[in-house]
Amino acid sequence: MDIRFIGHATVELTDGSANILIDPFLAPNNPIATVTAEEVEPTHILVTHGHADHTADLIPVAERTGAHILAIVEISRWHGARGFEDLTEINIGGTARFDWGWVKMVQAFHTNTIEGEDGIMVGPPTGLVINVGGKTVYHLGDTGLFGDLKLIAESTPVDVALIPIGGHYTMDRHDAVTAAKLIGAETVIPIHYDTFPPVETDAQAYKADVEAQTSSKVVVLQPGETFTP
Ligand code: NI
Ligand code: MN
Repeated sequence: MDIRFIGHATVELTDGSANILIDPFLAPNNPIATVTAEEVEPTHILVTHGHADHTADLIPVAERTGAHILAIVEISRWHGARGFEDLTEINIGGTARFDWGWVKMVQAFHTNTIEGEDGIMVGPPTGLVINVGGKTVYHLGDTGLFGDLKLIAESTPVDVALIPIGGHYTMDRHDAVTAAKLIGAETVIPIHYDTFPPVETDAQAYKADVEAQTSSKVVVLQPGETFTP
């Protein structure tokens, strides 16, 4: 299973014929991405929440590829009302099973709207625990720090944690060290930073802090780079 960091919170998991695209925010909407909406071929699109920096390219990619969309009930039905039929709706605590593995939806502490800054509320935001290719990847979504990261990782042990570190809209790199401690993943990949000025931070300092204080290894990926756990 390969993990490609496209940039910001956009990550692609590939295992055999399964190509799982999380939170599609692609070039040129995403200022740090080099991959455009025409250059991805997902079989599945997973959505943590509706903010534009997670969904700006969802509709064009889903229309072109016919990819299956998984999201919380309100976001899934929002797409259903716009003509999409290949949908999974689950809610927090629920697990969806696919031929390549499973996706468990967990909580995140953030907000959740769709259709822009004055958009409509679409349920709570989420994190996604994804099992594919024999590995478990936890994409935290956008969230502040919360203690039940430990509980989530106890019930579904995590190989790779994708943790936001940029601050301002999510936890910052200091709280993200605590998050890494609570999750205890073998590998941590920082996300949601250096995309726009408010979320600029020092990923190498984050790596040094996590590796000094936990047994997790931090892999800092440049946009477009791939890691194979
Ligand atoms: Ni957000
Ligand atoms: Mn975000």
